[in-house]
Amino acid sequence: MAAVDQLEAGGRPDPDREWWRTAVVYQVVLRAFADGDGDGLGDVAGLRSRLPYLADLGVDAVWVNPWYASPMVDAGYDVTDYRALDPRYGTLEDAEALVREAHALGMRVLLDVVPNHTSDQHAWFRAALAGDEAARARYLFRPGRGERGEEPPNDWESCFRGPAWTRTTGSDGEPGDWYLHMFAPEQPDLDWSNREVHDEMLDVLRFWFDRGVDGFRVDVAHGLVKAPGLPDAEGKDRRTQEHPGWDQDGVHEVYREWRALADAYDPPRVFVAEAWAARRAERLPLYLRPDELHTAFEFEPLHVAWRARPWRDVVDRSLALAEVSGAPCAWVLTNHDVVRQATRYARSQWAEKGTNETERARWPTEEPDLALGLRRARAAAVLVAALPGVLYLYLGEELGLHEVEDIPADRRTDPIFVRSGGTDPGRDGSRVPLPWSGDVPPFGFSPDRRPDGSPPAEPYLPQPARWAALTAQAQDGDPSSTLSLYRRLLALRREHLVPAGGLRWLDAPDDVLALAREGSPVQCWVNLGADPVALPAGGRVLVASAPVVDGSLPGDAGAWVLAG
Ligand code: NOJ
Repeated sequence: MAAVDQLEAGGRPDPDREWWRTAVVYQVVLRAFADGDGDGLGDVAGLRSRLPYLADLGVDAVWVNPWYASPMVDAGYDVTDYRALDPRYGTLEDAEALVREAHALGMRVLLDVVPNHTSDQHAWFRAALAGDEAARARYLFRPGRGERGEEPPNDWESCFRGPAWTRTTGSDGEPGDWYLHMFAPEQPDLDWSNREVHDEMLDVLRFWFDRGVDGFRVDVAHGLVKAPGLPDAEGKDRRTQEHPGWDQDGVHEVYREWRALADAYDPPRVFVAEAWAARRAERLPLYLRPDELHTAFEFEPLHVAWRARPWRDVVDRSLALAEVSGAPCAWVLTNHDVVRQATRYARSQWAEKGTNETERARWPTEEPDLALGLRRARAAAVLVAALPGVLYLYLGEELGLHEVEDIPADRRTDPIFVRSGGTDPGRDGSRVPLPWSGDVPPFGFSPDRRPDGSPPAEPYLPQPARWAALTAQAQDGDPSSTLSLYRRLLALRREHLVPAGGLRWLDAPDDVLALAREGSPVQCWVNLGADPVALPAGGRVLVASAPVVDGSLPGDAGAWVLAG
């Protein structure tokens, strides 16, 4: 429910303060979006030059993945300075210009805040390793178990494989205490029972809010606080079972402080949580209480199979949670951590859902049907754009890009690839630089010349030659292209569905999802089966992911219909 002070005179929600309830947000992995200076890595200059493209696409906000100074062990989720941009991405002045220019085009800017851990190169951690006691107290150093402390302090596993602990070496060359890292060893976890950590992160938020940034995506929002005493997990799977490293009650105190800060700005700043609570139905709404975070990603669509019943269950579960919390659902079909949807849908479908690991494990053994995957991905866009709430788009999904599966091992950068000993290819395949124009790599990703006149460096990950047909330029003006489909969906969504109310399922055959929204004459029909189905008689098709002939919606296609 909108708080009273967020209503305009007359009782309507104020669009300037409530935009985050219905927005379309476009996720930018800076390094993969557009390269302004020709070093092969995307940057703020590149993003600025492409802002008009995003405005034309029809997005309301841009979320920029971490752009802070970083050794880039985990693509910038290992921060050395939260108040500076990495020089490879640009300067603070560039960042300020980006915010101004986005605002002038009517788009908001969200950043990524990484509060769970720093880089091991952060000044605090370096001081900690050098023996500074106050600095050590900001991280989780513990003596090891075993006679000589040779065993890790507990049995927790890192999300990137292997133990979540690394042992330090003292200045005397002797093995010392261990430190906790829920991700890579280069990402030591902060100790959120230390007041200095709270104050520092509040100051970081303030720093960016003062520069006009509209809000933050909160990395690992459920991870900051650990169970007192760091007890063993005893084999509990953090994704499905309560685990002492995640989702502890103390974390809510952090978000109450953050919310108070965000609300002190005009317009108020907003948050979206990356929170993977194991008992999601009971625990997620806690993060979304009116004095905590505004929204949390709805992650089930990242893995659900292309099947009608599991999809409908996902939508129902999410809407039921939204009912409890009063926060809108934040739908997301893909992001920088998962396999792109056009590839997930290109192979046989799981009974209910897969995981990143199961998905990537079958790359070598099952040929993808890329055309089928793309058809389904387009239909999925028709579905999620019709749902109530916020919609997150991931760079390149509007071009219908697939995961790039065949990146050579020596070009891969993801710690998951390295720490799995190369058995899991990791996430690089979804982070390949976008194709903008032209017939050959870098497809307009980099400029023709660097500032000194020399040719640009190769893109930081190789682009497939077949992307020539998928450049933004090739798709622009082609009414059947994926780019045109997304533009039309977003425009129609804004016109017909942003002002609409709750969701109502319509009667439809087994493999079909059909829905309408209160107060809107638009119906969304999505056929997840192979056989064509008849659309409502007399309806006018507003947009469709595949040609509708004689009122018949083909298999693996979706359409919005204006009821007759
Ligand atoms: C979640 C981010 O989305 C992911 O990319 C990153 O590796 C981890 N958090 C660690 O920060």
